[in-house]
Amino acid sequence: MITSTDGLSARELHRALTSLLTGSPYVTAPGSEAAWIVGHLSGRSWAQLLAGTGTPLPPDVSAQAEAIALRRRAGEPLQYLLGDAYFYGHRFLADRRVLIPRPETELLVSVCAERLRDRRAPVFADIATGSGCIAISVVLELPHARGVATDLSASALEVALKNARLHGVEDRVEFRQGHLLEPLKGLLFDALLINPPYIPSGDIASLGPELAAEPVMALDGGPDGLDFYRAIARHWRDALFPGGFMACEVGAGQMPEVLRLMGPGRYRVVPDLSGVARALVAERGAVR
Ligand SMILES: C[S@@+](CC[C@H](N)C(=O)[O-])C[C@H]1O[C@@H](n2cnc3c(N)ncnc32)[C@H](O)[C@@H]1O
Repeated sequence: MITSTDGLSARELHRALTSLLTGSPYVTAPGSEAAWIVGHLSGRSWAQLLAGTGTPLPPDVSAQAEAIALRRRAGEPLQYLLGDAYFYGHRFLADRRVLIPRPETELLVSVCAERLRDRRAPVFADIATGSGCIAISVVLELPHARGVATDLSASALEVALKNARLHGVEDRVEFRQGHLLEPLKGLLFDALLINPPYIPSGDIASLGPELAAEPVMALDGGPDGLDFYRAIARHWRDALFPGGFMACEVGAGQMPEVLRLMGPGRYRVVPDLSGVARALVAERGAVR
């Protein structure tokens, strides 16, 4: 037990949580994660807490913080424990219904924002939207853009809609439930953005506790991890205006095989910050 009847100051609680988290194979930065937990539960930034006096925090804050740190030490993702995650500089609600947004996925938003920034009223679709992080970040970046976001999971779409309301953009992103591009029948877009599930089914059972906490449906890409790319390769052109583009995230090491599945065309491969070939941008071209 790290709680005391007198209540701990933020610094004392931080020190206690840091030592609880130290040594866990899942926690690479115990001090930073401890700071996130204290800041989140006290509703103040870490800088505010450090600037404050040694005033004790309410004892229930220490008790909650300890419970979270113990679960984190065992490998539960911090984002699910705290209920949110940051993506493209914005806060998104995240729970076990949705994949935790990843920094490498921000590439899709950058590519889209760069390409559509000068368009008067661009329209885009975000396939497999999960938390809605991609679609919502795009409309926050491009004030005149509108998007349709799809997911097969009704419960993921509930989280995505909450996130759209959190950012006041629910009138600019329409959510539709269904398989990949099926909910878009009859619609054309300037851009298609897709971060599909891409982990081979056989690898799912051996994932560590952090990935195992995420919805299987958000991870499982079929026997070789490439099922969604096969479907995308068949259908991506159908939903684009001439001159439009598709940008999709690709799993580490999968790019050569994904390019082969896509067949001949105009493609650009964008590396992430670790140098992994991560995003594939495909041009629809002026004529089919
Ligand atoms: C890798 S996650 C991406 C979530 C979010 N776009 C992101 O980047 O954080 C894949 C998403 O695909 C959804 N999904 C799985 N199968 C699907 C299908 N057949 N059609 C549409 N969405 C599907 C999952 O529910 C999950 O939300």
